[in-house]
Amino acid sequence: MATERTLSIIKPDAVAKNAIGEIIARFEKAGLKVVAAKMMHLSEEKAGGFYAEHKERPFFKDLVGFMTSGPVVVQVLEGEGAIAKNRELMGATNPKEAAPGTIRADFAETIDANAVHGSDSPESAEREISYFFGNDEICPR
Ligand code: TYD
Ligand code: MG
Repeated sequence: MATERTLSIIKPDAVAKNAIGEIIARFEKAGLKVVAAKMMHLSEEKAGGFYAEHKERPFFKDLVGFMTSGPVVVQVLEGEGAIAKNRELMGATNPKEAAPGTIRADFAETIDANAVHGSDSPESAEREISYFFGNDEICPR
């Protein structure tokens, strides 16, 4: 499998639980490397633009409200099959359906505050990484 990059966000609920380190440790233990990272408090515009694909969904307003409710940690993860590997580590969107041992099963209770984001395809990864990071902010290693 090829080396890939994916965008990860540790969401406001997980930051509030002081779980940044535990979540990043899971990425690292699975062989993913952090090649870019920043903590930021998203504006409504930035969060809404990020989730533009969901603009017409009934949960969009609450999603933007949640994503702007506190700081997040945005990272680029790099590794073999990084996109699928990260999705596997995250678990299902609804924590109630997430496999035991996944990040969402362990750190989240509800679908609207589900601890982490991860790109779902190579196309999303490319778009999402450039939405948050310039090339000079990514450190190949
Ligand atoms: P989605 O892209 O479907 O999930 P994922 O984060 O696993 O890629 O949805 C984006 C976020 O929107 C999801 O993480 C939480 C929120 N959401 C809801 O609040 N309610 C819902 O019914 C869905 C599908 C998503
Ligand atoms: Mg998604």
